[in-house]
Parts: sequence; C-alpha cells; structure tokens
Amino acid sequence: MTSTEQAGATSAGSAATGAGSLPVVLGGAPGPAVAPERWPRPAGREMELLEQVVRSGIWGFDGPLEAEFEREFAAYTGAGYGLAVSNGTVALQLALEALDVGAGDEVIVPGVTWQATAAAALDINAVPVLADIEPGTYCIDPAEVERLITPRTRAIIVVHLYGSLADMDRIGEIGARHGIPVIEDCAHAHGSRWRDRGAGSWGTLGCFSFQLFKTLTAGEGGFVTTSDPALREAVYSLRNCGRRRPGAPDENWRPIQSGNYRSTEFQAAVLLAQLDVFDDQASQRDRNVARLEASLAELPGVAPMDAPPQRTRISPYEFAFKFREHEWDGVPAAAFRAALEAELGVEVDTINEPLNAAPLYQPHTKRRYRTSDAYWAAVDPARFELPAARAAYAEGVTLPHKVLLDDDAIPVVSDAIARLHEHRHALARWHSGGLRGVAPPGQHSGGLRGVAPPGQHSGGLRGVAPPGQH
Ligand SMILES: Cc1ncc(COP(=O)(O)O)c(C=O)c1O
Repeated sequence: MTSTEQAGATSAGSAATGAGSLPVVLGGAPGPAVAPERWPRPAGREMELLEQVVRSGIWGFDGPLEAEFEREFAAYTGAGYGLAVSNGTVALQLALEALDVGAGDEVIVPGVTWQATAAAALDINAVPVLADIEPGTYCIDPAEVERLITPRTRAIIVVHLYGSLADMDRIGEIGARHGIPVIEDCAHAHGSRWRDRGAGSWGTLGCFSFQLFKTLTAGEGGFVTTSDPALREAVYSLRNCGRRRPGAPDENWRPIQSGNYRSTEFQAAVLLAQLDVFDDQASQRDRNVARLEASLAELPGVAPMDAPPQRTRISPYEFAFKFREHEWDGVPAAAFRAALEAELGVEVDTINEPLNAAPLYQPHTKRRYRTSDAYWAAVDPARFELPAARAAYAEGVTLPHKVLLDDDAIPVVSDAIARLHEHRHALARWHSGGLRGVAPPGQHSGGLRGVAPPGQHSGGLRGVAPPGQH
C-alpha cells in the first residue's frame, strides 16, 4: 500500500474531485453525482397533447396523433413508412411475420442482445440461430452471419448496441447476395446514423422500442419502419387483428391471420412531445460519445469501442467501453464496475449476458416450444459457441445514456477512471477483502454509492430493478 492509500484507508474524507484523491470505496468522499436529472424527462407538450386526447374521445388506435407520429418518426429515420405497435418485442415479431417467417425457419440473431431479439423468433416457432459478435463493436459479426446461413435461413436480425452500429455495408451485402432480408433491431439506436442515413432505414424492416428507459419513450411502445409498401400493409394488418388498413391499395394487401398488437393515442401524444426535443438530445449524446471515447483512448486500463467512419452519428441507449484487466494488477472487472459506480452515483453495469447463458433466455422452460424433439433441440441456446460474446461480457462496462446528456459528466467519468487506476493496488486488496469495512457506511450518501465489495454487489441496478425494467 502506498502512503496515500494507507492514509486514505484509515481516514476517509478527501474530496473526490481529481485523479489524485481517494476512491469512494476506499473511503474517499463522493463528489457530486453525475447526471442527477432523472429519466424519463418531460419535454413540454405532454400534458397539452394528453388533454387533447382525453377530450377528443379518440383514445385507441388509428387516431390523428398516431398518424402524425408515424409520419414524423418514419421520416426522421429515413424510412418510407412507420407503424406504432405495442412494444419493441412485438415490433420484431411482426416484422418477422410480415416477411412470412414461420415454423422451423432459421433467424440469425446476435449472441449479445436483450433476450427479446431471439424471443421474437421463438414466439413464431422459428429457430433463433445465435451468431457471435465483433470484438471491436460488440455487434453481430458479418463473418459469423455468413458462416451460419443455411437453406433454411429466412431472416437476419442485426442489433445496434452500446454506441456501435452493426456493419450495415457488409450485412446488407451478405443479405442481398443470399436473398435474405435483414431486420434492424434499433431499440438502442434511435437517431443514430450509418453513412448519414438513419438506423431503421437500412434493413428491409427496422424495429424500435419506446420502453421506459429508452432514449425515446412513452413508458411502453414499439415501432416498425419499412420502405416497402406491401410490408407496410402486412405490418398494419398484423398489428390490428388482420384488418386491412383504410386506404390500402389492392396490389399491396393480402389477408393475414393476427391478433391485437396496437398502440394508443396516449402513447402517440407523449412520443410527439418527446420528439420535439429528441434530435437535440441525440446530438448531445453524439458529441459526448466522441468526447468520452477520446478520453478513454488516452487513459490506462480502459479502451473505447471501435468507431468506424460509417458510424456518422451515435445516440446510444447504453454507452460501452472495455476494461483491460491485465493493466489493473489484480482488480477484476466486477470490482472496477462497483468502484466506478460508487464514484459516479449512476449505474455502471456489464453488457447483456450472451444468450447461450442468459438467465432470461430459457426456451426449455416453456412447453409451448416443445412442438417436436427436433425443434426442442434446435432452440437450445447452449448448442451455440460464442467466445467473442463471452469475452465481451467479461470486459464490457456500460453507462446509462443519461450520462451522455450531462456535458459536465464527461471529465468526471474520465477523472474517476484515472483515480481508480492510480489506486488499483488498494482496490485489488479491497476486492480480495483486505480493506472491507474501512469506510463507515454513514459517510456515503448518493444512493447507489455503497462500499460493499463486488462479491456482495448486485451488478448495478439491473439486479434490483423491478421485473421487466431492463
Ligand atoms: C435490443 C432490444 N431489442 C428489443 C427490445 C424489446 O423492446 P420492448 O421492451 O419494448 O419489448 C429491447 C428492450 O429492452 C432491447 O433492448
């Protein structure tokens, strides 16, 4: 232990303002929490538009605000058409069904994503085929996609995650060459652009979530984009019990069995209000991703994600970077995440667990999927090897997007990482139990800023969030 560390370990209280001061988990005083403003944030017009809806008596589907939001958000992404649906999971399911993907068909999905991407394929009796990811972007690896294509492959779903976009040049080329449609899961990428064109306009269809924590939200909600007029009619019918969209031309419509996956005017009202400020927020996130990535590239012990030049604008739901464990002299990633969370007072987490080992992706727990022994075996996630995904899960560190909406947070994050690296030897001992309990719990305000060593740490708020609040 250095003399500074020794002093800090016994007398907590130095202000955590610079790289030299003591980390909070070692007894240092917390600085002001970053990004203190809660999410979601009212933009301004929500109450006015909600009152308009209440008074209009048009509370359900096919209302004027829904039509306005559909036009505006589709245009914002660069796609020809947009359809509001109940949530992002359903958006993916309906996109697959619009493409007539069904029982036994294979759908290639990335091995790292929220479980909904694969579950959407499972719920239409298709076979989710898990592809490994690119280590530089944590998005689906085009070479893996190519390797996994079989005569039964009917769709490829890419997911834009963690400050990265899937390589739409290569995936688009592979899809076109094999005649396989590409669906973009844009739940983490509203307002992001590849070659200056919006996420959601590159694939045959794009899918968005407006769930509570997303960068554009109405509490719950989803959206499907497409520029294909026949797919537009198919998604409309699929979301609305098979009904034909009023005004759908004969040549683009066919009857299709379906249920109710509609959205409402209340969600459209909130989304329209949120859209007023969304582009400014997306620009701010983009600027702050660039600032943060530039700092991370200079700091010891961490590295930013790759930033290919085609990623012309990035407005992520979660921002990821890499923890380089071999530069930390015995501090594992879990201890780093816990210590950084204590520094910043915001959730610092892992990336999603790879789907071949994810607790919430368990096809074998539902009898509905036991349509045959062959299908049961095909949907077993454990049959896929995902070494890059496993490595990314071990090293990846994520921050919530609200950090990117606080310009002042960027140097605070960099300083905190530098401080932790400077005190890495004491942190390693803290992790292994040597310094447990040196800081009286009462000295730590800031909610999340506990001092429990990482073994007792729940892995950020994710572990304690109410079910479904991912
Ligand atoms: C990558 C991804 N896809 C799909 C979804 C599903 O969206 P929803 O929660 O609106 O059903 C999510 C939600 O978190 C997601 O993160």
